[in-house]
Amino acid sequence: MDTILVTGGAGFIGCNFVRMALRQTVSRVVVFDKLTYAGSLLNLKDVEHHPRYEFVRGDIADRRLVAEVLQGFRPTSIVHFAAETHVDRSIEGPRNFLDANVIGTFELLEAALAYYRGLGEKGRDFRFVHVSTDEVYGSLGPQGYFREDSHYAPNSPYAASKAAADHFVRAYFRTFNLPTLITNCSNNYGYYQFPEKLVPLMLLNAAAGRNLPIYGDGLNVRDWLFVEDHCAAVLAVLRYGKIGEKYNIGGGNELNNLQMLEALCSALDERLPAKENPALKARGLTSYLQLRVFVPDRPGHDRRYATDTSRIRNELGWRPACRFEDGIRRTVRWYLDNTAWCETVLAGRSGARPPFIPDNHQS
Ligand SMILES: NC(=O)c1ccc[n+]([C@@H]2O[C@H](COP(=O)([O-])OP(=O)(O)OC[C@H]3O[C@@H](n4cnc5c(N)ncnc54)[C@H](O)[C@@H]3O)[C@@H](O)[C@H]2O)c1
Repeated sequence: MDTILVTGGAGFIGCNFVRMALRQTVSRVVVFDKLTYAGSLLNLKDVEHHPRYEFVRGDIADRRLVAEVLQGFRPTSIVHFAAETHVDRSIEGPRNFLDANVIGTFELLEAALAYYRGLGEKGRDFRFVHVSTDEVYGSLGPQGYFREDSHYAPNSPYAASKAAADHFVRAYFRTFNLPTLITNCSNNYGYYQFPEKLVPLMLLNAAAGRNLPIYGDGLNVRDWLFVEDHCAAVLAVLRYGKIGEKYNIGGGNELNNLQMLEALCSALDERLPAKENPALKARGLTSYLQLRVFVPDRPGHDRRYATDTSRIRNELGWRPACRFEDGIRRTVRWYLDNTAWCETVLAGRSGARPPFIPDNHQS
């Protein structure tokens, strides 16, 4: 049986990917995750008894543990999501981003290379897919799109750490022939996103009648993609992508933050009408948009991201399946139906299991 090792599989995109991989492939799926504040076993609760699912708690920067896991589970591919991901946190404390995203990816590459070399002929189909962001390309003006050959110009410490990781992954292909592929995706929204990121933060704040803080003038543009479409793209790259290649992924759905907030508030109003929400009534308000407050801009805030996705569309036949209006409605419904999840992960009480390595490992 094929085995996919998914780093960061207990985080937002990782857990959606794990679910999809268990549904759409016959592979065993082994999650390797440190369970930082952003990762939770609650995100994988519905698959914990799946016969093809395993979980190991660990840090990708722990090369010895990663080597043991590789020897123990003998994966046929690694899909690398694990990272520190919140731009605001990277401004407050960049060091963690260097440790997880740069050193972590380097140690993972070293362990993967040693393992791959040991596979010999059996390593023919081995793949290392590195999941990255379009933020590595920097900021666009009103026109134009990021292409795979756009130059790197990261502006936040988060983007710089992902850019450095991308370069290491590329170097391990060019120098050591590790069969790597890189994906650079635009902003995701959907289920299980830690409620510090724009979409869940605004949703939960609005539902509770709290202010909706908007950075600067709110006109920064992002290209939004439903998380399951991102996961389908990563699966397509894993199955059909060309070794050594990179693929941009995006929704073709540009919205500035004010427009995103309007879409969110209107989807929320359908499920939980503002006029009947006691939290708003208590503040004498009748519409969620009245909760908007403008706050000083984030330093280095990129103005616009937009991705040219013709390569993955033309070469791998991928395209987003979920319309933005549907994705936003589904996301709003999920957060309103899962308030206990929100409270638990925000309180940092999501629970953890110790590392588990099967006893057939060889080190
Ligand atoms: N969220 C987005 O919009 C977006 C867009 C494009 C690319 N990406 C990339 O996708 C990946 C996943 O993003 P996300 O939004 O799901 O992130 P997330 O913050 O929700 O989850 C990250 C996961 O990685 C784990 N992790 C962190 N450091 C680790 C370490 N040292 N060792 C092992 N596990 C560790 C965390 O416990 C968590 O489960 C990241 O690499 C990110 O750069 C995210």
